[in-house]
Amino acid sequence: MEPIKITDTVYWVGAIDYDIRDFHGYLTPRGSTYNAYLIVNDKKITLIDTVKHGFEEELLSRVSKIVDPKKIDQVVSNHAEMDHSGGLPEIMRHIGIDKTVHASAMGVKNLGGQFKNAGLNLKAAGASLDVGGEELAFIETRMIHWPDSMFSFLPSQGLLFSQDGFGMHLACPERFDDQIGENTWGPLAMNYFANILTPYTAQIAKVLEKVAADGILPQIKIICPDHGFVWRQNPGRIVELYSRWVQQKPRRKAVVAFDTMWHSTEFMARVLTDYLAGQGIETMYHSLKNKHRSEVATECYEAAAIIIGSPTINNQLFPSVSDLITYIKSLKFKNKIGAAFGSHGWSGEGAKLVQAELKALGYNVPADEVRFQWVPEEKDLEPLKALGKLIADEIKKTVDPD
Ligand code: FEO
Repeated sequence: MEPIKITDTVYWVGAIDYDIRDFHGYLTPRGSTYNAYLIVNDKKITLIDTVKHGFEEELLSRVSKIVDPKKIDQVVSNHAEMDHSGGLPEIMRHIGIDKTVHASAMGVKNLGGQFKNAGLNLKAAGASLDVGGEELAFIETRMIHWPDSMFSFLPSQGLLFSQDGFGMHLACPERFDDQIGENTWGPLAMNYFANILTPYTAQIAKVLEKVAADGILPQIKIICPDHGFVWRQNPGRIVELYSRWVQQKPRRKAVVAFDTMWHSTEFMARVLTDYLAGQGIETMYHSLKNKHRSEVATECYEAAAIIIGSPTINNQLFPSVSDLITYIKSLKFKNKIGAAFGSHGWSGEGAKLVQAELKALGYNVPADEVRFQWVPEEKDLEPLKALGKLIADEIKKTVDPD
């Protein structure tokens, strides 16, 4: 396994996971990378982050092409989540368990909690760390996206180690943004932002403001995230996209997501989709039978309206609909219009429960849910079209065209 040189003294020494498909409930159809970096000079050797458990050998193999891993002097943990720290205990046993692992104060707490018996020598990072005649500055990024998260910045080289920030899930041999076009990485970066970072857009906006106010932003020449590409050609582009995405500004777009028992709720979804599209609204039709929750959530990110359909099963929501609602609830989307619909046989709680959930999420829910008993026919569709008209009008009233 070969390391990849980023600058004269900084190398990528991470791991490529071509096989992962479920990243804590988020679909990763193209795998991921766990990026780690080595700062090497004649005075000190510093490892920035590690890898998921199971990939320790890959990291050590890459490091050993540069230097004997036992010569690593210190480790910085920018983020304690297991995809970057799961390999830490084994790597520390290999390079020397007494060597210092620098982390934020919360990182020390979280790593200590995760690896109680590993004997790690954890130390709370101060403002900066000597990495061999160069200072590595630490930047507070609490809750982006864990309490322990921090960035590290090497001003002498304009190099930002941004842990999960500016990342994406893509396993491939290329390591740099200039090796693959924005047409490929753009949707992946957006997908990652929508599913991992949306709940923390306010914190991200503050960090972006702070690094600009502190004069750090113009100094950044290269961004090294913990997933995806090293941004060396145009790091400003991903920063620009984040500055836009944190606003959660909707487009004139609707998502119709549903599941169905005997095709009646499906029929309603198709009528609504066609109706909204006919009103000039870009409308995404998602059957939860073949669409993963995280793919739907990505479509929801820029949508003005989220319209959810559910049948009723034993007085409850259909399980896949419940799953989607739980997932999008956790993502805390802002600026959404909501609507509910569904077919039922007798008690009919499904659509009502969806409606209540959308209201509880703080969405703008301008109409009552539309429910049909048994199988809707063409002559019954007026309430559904009226709902579509109301949603389309609300979108046009509140969202500017692209
Ligand atoms: Fe890539 Fe939050 O871990």
